[in-house]
Amino acid sequence: MNTLKIDLKKVYDIIYQEEIEGLEKEVREQHEKLFTKEGEGRDFLGWLNLPSSIAKEEISDIENTANELAGKVDYVVVIGIGGSYLGAKAIIEALSNSFDQNIKAGTHPAVLFAGQNIVEDYLAELVDFLNGKTFGLVVISKSGTTTEPAIAFRILRELLEDTVGPEKAKELIIAITDKEKGALRTLANNEGYKSFVIPDDVGGRFSVLTPVGLVPIALAGFSVRDFIKGAADMEKRTSPETDFKDNPAALYAATRNALYRNGKKIEILVNYHNKLVYFSEWWKQLYGESEGKDSKGIYPASVYFTADLHSMGQYIQEGERILFETVIWVSNAGSHLVIPKDKDNLDQLNYLAGKRIHDVNEMAELGTRFAHVDGGVPNIRIEIEKIDPYNLGQLVYFFEKACGISGYMLGVNPFNQPGVEAYKKNMFALLEKPGYEEDTKKMKERL
Ligand code: PA5
Repeated sequence: MNTLKIDLKKVYDIIYQEEIEGLEKEVREQHEKLFTKEGEGRDFLGWLNLPSSIAKEEISDIENTANELAGKVDYVVVIGIGGSYLGAKAIIEALSNSFDQNIKAGTHPAVLFAGQNIVEDYLAELVDFLNGKTFGLVVISKSGTTTEPAIAFRILRELLEDTVGPEKAKELIIAITDKEKGALRTLANNEGYKSFVIPDDVGGRFSVLTPVGLVPIALAGFSVRDFIKGAADMEKRTSPETDFKDNPAALYAATRNALYRNGKKIEILVNYHNKLVYFSEWWKQLYGESEGKDSKGIYPASVYFTADLHSMGQYIQEGERILFETVIWVSNAGSHLVIPKDKDNLDQLNYLAGKRIHDVNEMAELGTRFAHVDGGVPNIRIEIEKIDPYNLGQLVYFFEKACGISGYMLGVNPFNQPGVEAYKKNMFALLEKPGYEEDTKKMKERL
């Protein structure tokens, strides 16, 4: 059952409810543009109906492939960056035990990640760690040419081939890439790796409901069917036919734009759960890369409370008033742990004896909400029932749909990312990549 709730009461303390409701027509127009394909980035709208349209055969193929590899190895390294990394990392982190996620879980391998940085120590330590262990590789790149994952794959593929031999290695590698373009597609075809296709019309940061996210999630032993079901239910709930007041994605898009127009330029995604820290990283990419262009956009930041209340809490309470918060609250804990009574009560915690830790966390959330609103920080509250594949599927699609609408409301193309090329061009020039000779000259003059 679709249970995600959005609560805007603590936004209305700061801006008028009518201001948000007044955006209904604009939201409807921008929402419809996604479906009529009249807006910019119309070639990248395949994510809109992914949950309801993913073929049963593809889900079975993903599950069977994952089970087959899981039966052969204790570890799988998922190699990718940006949209080819953060979705899988966010979901696996959210669903895994906080302490044993790097240890093989039952019949499923532990999923490790690489290719999301260019840190020599990281790769060297990973190579050391994998030495003497059984492992497979999932290499993900839509373009098939991204430097970070290409470096990691070259190193780990060599290690795998040295460990099990080149022929056996082929059976332990899965490639997820474009259907025909790019170096990774050529390599996968030449070597006969099992491969999956990233649809042409789905950009990296909107791809977690394609094999990009689904293969690693299945490998980690979590239900991709429930994840897709949650997203499909949210796809239905946020359709253009749904009334504005019942459509959480429309309300969220309207509210954040109303706040932006009132000078709230920074949105902080707040979670009260360690397992959602990477979910915030996924969300930051989704909104940052989609909206931050043409000198516009809400800057997406994140905090993890209550930990960060002891650091960033000060700025949020009393710093420059350009912030608003979007809190993800999980109403049920997956465990049951109460605070014990202590006969000496030196820490004076006996007033909490018998209370669940989750209940204390909830009061921290409520108390913080009031404090921050009193300090001039509007608060959007999104509640999910629990952390499971179904609820995470809802949350993912909710944020994606709202992002599409919100980007159009801001007047940008939410589906391109021209700005990420600038650093690459300079890096290639500095590394003297063939074809960059002119840029190399210019860079050297600037040194
Ligand atoms: O969202 C995006 O488009 C980017 O973050 C890409 O996913 C990222 O740059 C990785 O690209 P690729 O999958 O081509 O290696």
